[in-house]
Amino acid sequence: MSLDRGRLGALLADEERRFREAHPRSLALFERARRSLLGGVPMHWMVRWAGGFPLFVTAGEGAHLTDVDGHRYLDLCLGDTGAMTGHAPAPTVEAVRAQAGRGFTFMLPTEDAVWVGEELARRFGLPYWQFAVTATDANRFAIRLAREITGRPRILVFNWCYHGTVDETFAILRDGRVVARDGNVGPPVDPAVTTRVVEFNDVFALEAALAHGDVACVLAEPALTNVGIVHPEPGFHAALRELTRRAGTLLIIDETHTICTGPGGYTRAHGLDPDILTLGKPVAGGVTGAVYGLSDAVADRVRAHSRLDVADTGGIGGTLAANALASAAMRATLEHVLTDASFRRTIPLAERFAVGVEHVIAELSLPWIVKRLGCRVEYWFRPAAPRNGGEAAAAVDPDLERYMHLAALNREILLTPFHNMALLAPAVTENDVDRHTEVFRESVGAGGLYH
Ligand SMILES: Cc1ncc(COP(=O)(O)O)c(C=O)c1O
Repeated sequence: MSLDRGRLGALLADEERRFREAHPRSLALFERARRSLLGGVPMHWMVRWAGGFPLFVTAGEGAHLTDVDGHRYLDLCLGDTGAMTGHAPAPTVEAVRAQAGRGFTFMLPTEDAVWVGEELARRFGLPYWQFAVTATDANRFAIRLAREITGRPRILVFNWCYHGTVDETFAILRDGRVVARDGNVGPPVDPAVTTRVVEFNDVFALEAALAHGDVACVLAEPALTNVGIVHPEPGFHAALRELTRRAGTLLIIDETHTICTGPGGYTRAHGLDPDILTLGKPVAGGVTGAVYGLSDAVADRVRAHSRLDVADTGGIGGTLAANALASAAMRATLEHVLTDASFRRTIPLAERFAVGVEHVIAELSLPWIVKRLGCRVEYWFRPAAPRNGGEAAAAVDPDLERYMHLAALNREILLTPFHNMALLAPAVTENDVDRHTEVFRESVGAGGLYH
């Protein structure tokens, strides 16, 4: 089976035309925005949406979004996990409404923050928590603390990881050397100076990299999600824990996306034992907020290194972190929305999605596969699961991806803009999932993409 690139180009051009015709108001707003927003968008990567300009949204509710042209989309992107709970979950909305009338931010804690700390300790097993504004910040602060208490300069990440806009993490392996990832904007130093990189699932490379004795922490997603889903092989996490401990290196597990595994993330579901855990995006139901948790031992070491007189200048914090609004939103979300019951609904939906797409792949004999992690699921343009980020990145096909995304968008289904990822919110129905399967069949079966 080979992909007909000419046919793909023609199909993509048709979808682009259709998108433009169906979205005159979004297009007009985009043209207007070019005069006040750099590139016509409020955040630079919004230009990457398939279609040439982004949809402008009027409202989101549950698993659906409405745009200014009156289209109603099944949202399987969910703000790239920020709205994993579905849009505007009622308990979070209610808590935000109530808190808004009492003030947004004080630089003083509210009782909600204590409740959240207690709940996070119960869920993840780490006793001490701090708040940040974004997951990026949570990772940044976790790295700084790790450097501070170990006295070591470097960090280690897995090839093709993503942990937000954290300078040290934009490093990949090329021919065995650590180089800056393409598109890294204005790096403060060459990331090879700050970072060691090894492939996910490569225990020998990990051991060798840690043997230098200069790695303060490993920062890892427990399963890669940002270059597509790459699962750890059996024994990998046990080896990662054992090797980091032996090397005196801290283990930071970033659960920002893998919280899709269940209410206590991958950590709880698989009994991981990190020194630090970070989490952002959906923790406040889509309101800005993030957290990071510390083990007893790490907390003790941090306390021993803290100096109160310079606590506000140490590169950790943020005026708006732990603000009252975010704390209220986190409490309501953790108590009523991101619950066991919600995962009992969304994981079977993701399974149904996977089975539907797998059937079509088999029916059309496509050289593709499906991968799932909890309520996150995606299809890959390759016949076998990749073992690591390097293999995963090699399977990316931007044109094919663009076509699949745009074909879905034109049929009112929104996929995550990076790779072919879908997240299932509790408000999704079985019919919604089946509609996606139909659209998938229609898009990929259309006019002989493969021969
Ligand atoms: C695993 C992981 N960590 C951290 C982040 C950063 O999140 P934010 O952009 O909200 O800071 C992301 C963003 O995609 C992520 O996927």
